[in-house]
Amino acid sequence: MKKKFYVTTPIYYPNDKLHLGHVYTTTLADYISKYKKMQGYETMFLTGSDEHGQKILDRALESSMDPLSFVTNIITEFKNLWNKLDINYDIFIRTTDKLHKKYVAESFTNLLNQGFIYKSIYTDLYCKSDEAYFTKTQAPTQLCPDCGKDLEILSEESYFLKIKNFKKWIKDKLENSNILIPKYRIKELINNFVNDLQDLSISRVSFSWGIKINENKAHIIYVWMDALQNYISALSYPESKFTIDEVWNKNSDVELLQLVGKEITRFHCIYWPIILKMKGYREPRILAHGWLVTDSGEKMSKSKKNVIDPIKLIDIYGADALKFYLTNNIVTGEDGKFSQDLLEEMINGLLVNKYSNLVARTDSMIKKSFNGIVPENNISNKNIIKLKNRLDEIKNSYFIDMDNFNFSNSTKKLIKYIEEINGFIDITEPWKEKGDNLSAILNTIVNEIFNITTMLSPLLLNSYKKICFWLNYDEKPNFENLGKDFKGVKLNKIDYLFSRIEKDKNNKFN
Ligand code: MSP
Repeated sequence: MKKKFYVTTPIYYPNDKLHLGHVYTTTLADYISKYKKMQGYETMFLTGSDEHGQKILDRALESSMDPLSFVTNIITEFKNLWNKLDINYDIFIRTTDKLHKKYVAESFTNLLNQGFIYKSIYTDLYCKSDEAYFTKTQAPTQLCPDCGKDLEILSEESYFLKIKNFKKWIKDKLENSNILIPKYRIKELINNFVNDLQDLSISRVSFSWGIKINENKAHIIYVWMDALQNYISALSYPESKFTIDEVWNKNSDVELLQLVGKEITRFHCIYWPIILKMKGYREPRILAHGWLVTDSGEKMSKSKKNVIDPIKLIDIYGADALKFYLTNNIVTGEDGKFSQDLLEEMINGLLVNKYSNLVARTDSMIKKSFNGIVPENNISNKNIIKLKNRLDEIKNSYFIDMDNFNFSNSTKKLIKYIEEINGFIDITEPWKEKGDNLSAILNTIVNEIFNITTMLSPLLLNSYKKICFWLNYDEKPNFENLGKDFKGVKLNKIDYLFSRIEKDKNNKFN
């Protein structure tokens, strides 16, 4: 039976167009999903939109639209963006979907019946912009600890989830299990949120744009309680490849990865595991990544008015280069800089000089010396053996990085792989060779170009397609195809993988 892998992104607020920060989370999810697929896993990749709540309602009213039509328009743009980036999700969940609403309302009833929910009065500090609540200890200055905006004081009837009872349990889980990667974030999570853990207010009466509680129609479910459960409810959709029980039962062997940005770690690593525990389910596995920051180190965010429109970047540089930059140049887990200059540097220095040129050089050597037919390797050459050993080592360490979700390290291995092939050309100097030696060298290079292109394909899908056309090859990327010998294949015309970005080009917009 095939091994199974379930990967999720946060569901994004459709109050505006998505920016590059959102693209980052989704790119990582797509990368690991494609990688697992190439390993033969059955994969399920979930993304979507978090459509309820006061903030969305306000935005819709500002545009004189009803909230559902407002968000539906924006969601078309989300999907268009994912499409332009070759992001292959399996389900796009909307929290306004009938099946999601049904699941969340029923889940409320079950938790209520099990005694995990009670009714009381809620008074707290609320950040409208982040849809987040803080206690006075967490926000002593009455400013949002996340975004710095003024917090409102709220007091209303509300249902509460008995989170406090799980304080010891969650502390122990965070300290002694694998809920959160990277581990160094656990200490700050415990200090800032677990030590002062309060029951969670999970309903509102002050507005009505949300999922109604069956037991009390004046209440709607608080947006995080609604949103977090998308990771379960989506599995009740007819198009879901996995069932709820299959993924979430305690003995499940479905591998799991939930990607989130570091600012929403507390929801995913405290409330979310407790909700799952109440339901008798397994723990989640969360990877918290850092933020994309500007050249001057400021978090990219709509409220700071410094966001970059990914569509413009894709139009100029292409989806592949952008995805490669985000994965490679931002150390997984840490904040990382983005600017057009840095992206251009990466494209010219790596994708053009090292990768694209390697292919172009090889193409012209084979067309010149062998009429465009890939020669065979039928000798034993010590440089070739040495190269293959080195590449095997690099490949193995790439697999280890990927299996540990160490994305930015994994691409460093891929770059090293390309550099080794270039180094092999420099050492063997094929232009000075002929006969069997030349055949063996060029055969090795072509086969290794295919191998590295296959390994790069979860990020550089278009390069994979171009190389497959060049090699007259028509199969989906799969690690089982590594090591294929292309001897005897008549090469087609090569389409340049990447072109140099000229510095004086008038394409700067930030
Ligand atoms: N709706 C909630 C998530 C609910 S999940 C049950 C939400 N949505 S969001 O639209 O604000 O975007 C969430 C994701 O975008 C987070 O993973 C967040 O970290 C990411 N990013 C937003 N700005 C970012 C950067 N500048 N850099 C990297 N990621 C950032 O939160």
